[in-house]
Amino acid sequence: MEKRDKIYEGKAKIVYTTDKAGLVIQYFKDDATAFNALKRGTILGKGVVNNRMSAMLFERLGRARIPTHFVSTLSDREMLCRRLDIIKIETIVRNVVAGSLAKRTGLPEGTPVRPPIVELYLKSDPLGDPMINDDHVRMLKLATPKELAWIRRTALRINAVLRPYLARKALLLVDFKLEFGRAGSKLMLGNEISPDTCRLWDAETREKLDKDRFRQDLGGVEEAYQEVYRRLAAGK
Ligand code: C5P
Repeated sequence: MEKRDKIYEGKAKIVYTTDKAGLVIQYFKDDATAFNALKRGTILGKGVVNNRMSAMLFERLGRARIPTHFVSTLSDREMLCRRLDIIKIETIVRNVVAGSLAKRTGLPEGTPVRPPIVELYLKSDPLGDPMINDDHVRMLKLATPKELAWIRRTALRINAVLRPYLARKALLLVDFKLEFGRAGSKLMLGNEISPDTCRLWDAETREKLDKDRFRQDLGGVEEAYQEVYRRLAAGK
C-alpha cells in the first residue's frame, strides 16, 4: 500500500490518500488539544496507544456486525481505512454523568445514566461543537431521518458491545464520542475509539484513565494511556 497525498491534518491525526481510490491511511500523532484547542500539549506514546486500541475495538465491533472504516493495521501509528464522507455530527453515548453533562444538568459526576443516552453535537471547530437535536440535523441537512435513526441505534449497539468488554478489563466506560460517515450509500463508524474520545475509569477505584488527566492537569497522563493499553492487550 503506497502512501500518497495528505488530505487532512487534524488535532490528533493525519489522513493520507493511497494508491487505492477507496482507501486512506490514518496516522496517529502524539499531539493533544483540549477545550477547542485552547490547551495544547504532547502525550508521549499516545498515537501508538490510540492506533492499537482503535484497531482492537474496531475489530471487535466488526465481529458484532457493526460496520467500521477499519481495514488493517499498517504500523504502530498507521491504520488503513475505507475513505468516508464524514457526517458532521459528533454522537456521544453516556453511561455515567461526567464532563459537560454534569455541567449542563447539575448532577454529580459519577451518577449512573440508566438507560444510556445519546447526544448529538455539530462537528464544527469554529462554533465549538454546539449540542444539536434531530430537528437541527434535518434543518442543516446533516443526515436524513433514516440515517439519523441508524446512527442512534448503532451508537447504542456499539455501547452494548464495548461496555461489557471494557468491564472485563476492569474499565468503566463512562462516555464516548463517535463519528460516522458514508462510503457510497453505506454508513459506517469512522475516526477512532481511544482514551482521547472515551472516558474510562478504573472500575474499582474510579481513577480517571483518559484524556481528562490532560484536560484537568491531573498528572500521570502517559501512564494512564499505557495502563489502558496494557489492560486491553492482556489476554485480548
Ligand atoms: O465534554 P463532554 O462531557 O461532552 O464529552 C463527552 C465524551 O465525548 C468524552 O468522552 C469526550 O472525551 C468525548 N469528546 C470528544 N471530542 C469532542 C467532545 C467530546 O472525543 N469534541
